Amino acid sequence: MTKPIWIKHITQLATLASEEKGPRSKEAMSELGIIEDGSLWLENGVIQAVGTTKELEKQYEARAEEADIVDATGHLVTPGLVDPHTHVVYGGSREREFEMRLEGATYMDIMNAGGGIHATTRMTREASEEELIEQTTRRLDSFLQHGVTTVEGKSGYGMNLETELKQLRVMKKLQESHPIDLVPTFMGAHAVPPDFKGREDEFVDHLIEDMLPIVAEEKLAEFNDVFCEKGVFTPEQSERILEAGKQYGLIPKIHADEIEPYGGAELAAKVGAISAEHLLKASDEGIQAMAKSGTIACLLPATALYLREQAAAGRKMIDEGVAVAISTDANPGSSPTTSMPLVMNLACISMRLTPAESLTAATYNAACAINRQDLVGSFEVGKQADIVLWNVKSYQELQYLFGVNHVKSVWKKGVQVV
Ligand code: NIG
Ligand code: FE
Repeated sequence: MTKPIWIKHITQLATLASEEKGPRSKEAMSELGIIEDGSLWLENGVIQAVGTTKELEKQYEARAEEADIVDATGHLVTPGLVDPHTHVVYGGSREREFEMRLEGATYMDIMNAGGGIHATTRMTREASEEELIEQTTRRLDSFLQHGVTTVEGKSGYGMNLETELKQLRVMKKLQESHPIDLVPTFMGAHAVPPDFKGREDEFVDHLIEDMLPIVAEEKLAEFNDVFCEKGVFTPEQSERILEAGKQYGLIPKIHADEIEPYGGAELAAKVGAISAEHLLKASDEGIQAMAKSGTIACLLPATALYLREQAAAGRKMIDEGVAVAISTDANPGSSPTTSMPLVMNLACISMRLTPAESLTAATYNAACAINRQDLVGSFEVGKQADIVLWNVKSYQELQYLFGVNHVKSVWKKGVQVV
């Protein structure tokens, strides 16, 4: 039996707790359930009590001596951050492309010339499972250092059955060896592999007939994602792939309207996707359709910045009733970062989310985007004790002092990992 932990005298405890269940939008994104001079009691990996320090002193009067005490005077405490969209398992790196883009090449130019996703696919095919585990472990360690305790991860640098399975199996193994919770997504439709060039529909058939059944049978993924973009997969092809995945119980997600408006947001609403990602160029109709269908907008402001594009219309989406989550999109091309705190800052600066909305987008709504809202994303009795103690006194200060990692300590399932 491990000792209970009592984190007390928390200057600002942002619980993110609410009676309302499900993704939050509009005013609900600003309700952080703040408790001043707050306390958390953790035991057996879960939150046993949340309240003011006075309340917990009363509740645990008889057991106060048993606990390890953490005095959080002067500190903000939040739920562990959740990153609902990453491509964290990959081989190699692409720093030369960064220079090429600064010299004028576009993301799509590079990809169409065999670089970009294709370059990482070659390096990921070549890497052994051990090498991928070793490289991904380092990235996950960095996520923890930045206060992230749950991470979604996509395949998609295989584009053949063998390597897609290798990426997904790496995630399964890391689930056992690393403290971070990894949530797996199959993204066989990340690009059309060169050997299928001009035969895109055949690749879609191959993916549906030969890959999806095995991924599902081996229970290697919970979600099914598609890069729906001009020159990659059409809305029709994307719909076929996502509908086929549904037959196997895989929940749809879509990389939508990133580079050009392409009806991706509309498609996300139509197929009942849990989330649509990027959405830089989403149409007004698409945004309205998402608000109606309850599809979460998973926005990636670090990617927009890195590609020197205008960020998605996060402010407008929230005002129109779309629940917004944010993510790093951690990947070797368009967003090589593991810093969710930076993404929270950028959500404010480049999408005009308020500091409170930005925190909701990185915790509770992010958990909803990967179906983990019953386990993580807020402090409620019985939920996982995934906790960040910050070197700032309030969430306002966290969002204001930008570009700095303010993490002081992190607990994952009640165990201190940072
Ligand atoms: O979400 N847009 C497509 N996929 C990734 C980038 C992958 C890469 O460049 O390796 C994204 O930005
Ligand atoms: Fe992505």
